[in-house]
Amino acid sequence: MPMAYYMASIGLFGMLRLPMMWQRSQDEQKAMPLVIYGASGAVGSAAVQLAVNANFHPLVCVAGSGASAIQPLLNSSKGDVVLDYREGAEKLVENMKAALGEQELHYAFDCVSEHGSSANICRVLRKGGHISLVLPSGVKDVPPGFDVNTTMAGNLWAGFKNKSDTHGAMGLAGGKEFGYCYSRLLGHWFSEDKLRVHSPEIIEGGLLGIEKALKNLREGKNHGVKYVVRVRDTPGLE
Ligand SMILES: NC(=O)c1ccc[n+]([C@@H]2O[C@H](COP(=O)([O-])OP(=O)(O)OC[C@H]3O[C@@H](n4cnc5c(N)ncnc54)[C@H](OP(=O)(O)O)[C@@H]3O)[C@@H](O)[C@H]2O)c1
Repeated sequence: MPMAYYMASIGLFGMLRLPMMWQRSQDEQKAMPLVIYGASGAVGSAAVQLAVNANFHPLVCVAGSGASAIQPLLNSSKGDVVLDYREGAEKLVENMKAALGEQELHYAFDCVSEHGSSANICRVLRKGGHISLVLPSGVKDVPPGFDVNTTMAGNLWAGFKNKSDTHGAMGLAGGKEFGYCYSRLLGHWFSEDKLRVHSPEIIEGGLLGIEKALKNLREGKNHGVKYVVRVRDTPGLE
């Protein structure tokens, strides 16, 4: 939970600087189109929930076999959709354009940042638009003319320095204070049931199950579920 929700908070409200609801007037009806690529993943699904709470619509979400986990979170009457990346880049771009219609896309959170995700997004993002990635290595896929940066969980720790990063990942001043504010807000939203961990799956054998769980993650067998390791389930623990 903390990694996914901090990443989503940093990405949307830190790096993309999207306005929280208290930064907009109460009766504002202005559409806030946002693409969340990898919306069924841990970071992506957290971003979808934060975006819903902050009232950003239409949400153009990109997912694969984990799509069913986020579909119930969306509001189709406000134009939210889930599109399938497995249909191929051309079809996906076409579907993203159709979902946006006449609306210009200024913001995208690329929670995959590989397999050509950023290049696909930039085919619908307005020139000069803002895109935040989750992997610095994906920046090379972003064509010139866009405002690109990388969302890093390490932004929350003062003094954390990733020397290889030259793409604005550390551009967020006041990381500790940001973490303070958002940890309170996230806790509050969890207590109000406005945030959830989607489809938790208990790993058998407690700590002994970690190896199998990690292998499943590495082999891409995990879709739209969150593995939970319960330490007390470990055989032989007193
Ligand atoms: N910078 C940082 O500090 C930081 C921190 C945490 C994570 N990360 C990185 O963020 C990324 C996402 O992490 P996560 O935990 O959210 O991963 P995850 O839960 O495994 O989610 C991966 C997402 O990618 C989608 N996907 C898989 N293959 C794809 C493809 N070929 N094309 C398009 N989408 C594809 C999945 O869709 P389906 O399952 O629906 O098919 C899913 O939505 C990882 O690379 C991770 O290393 C970075």
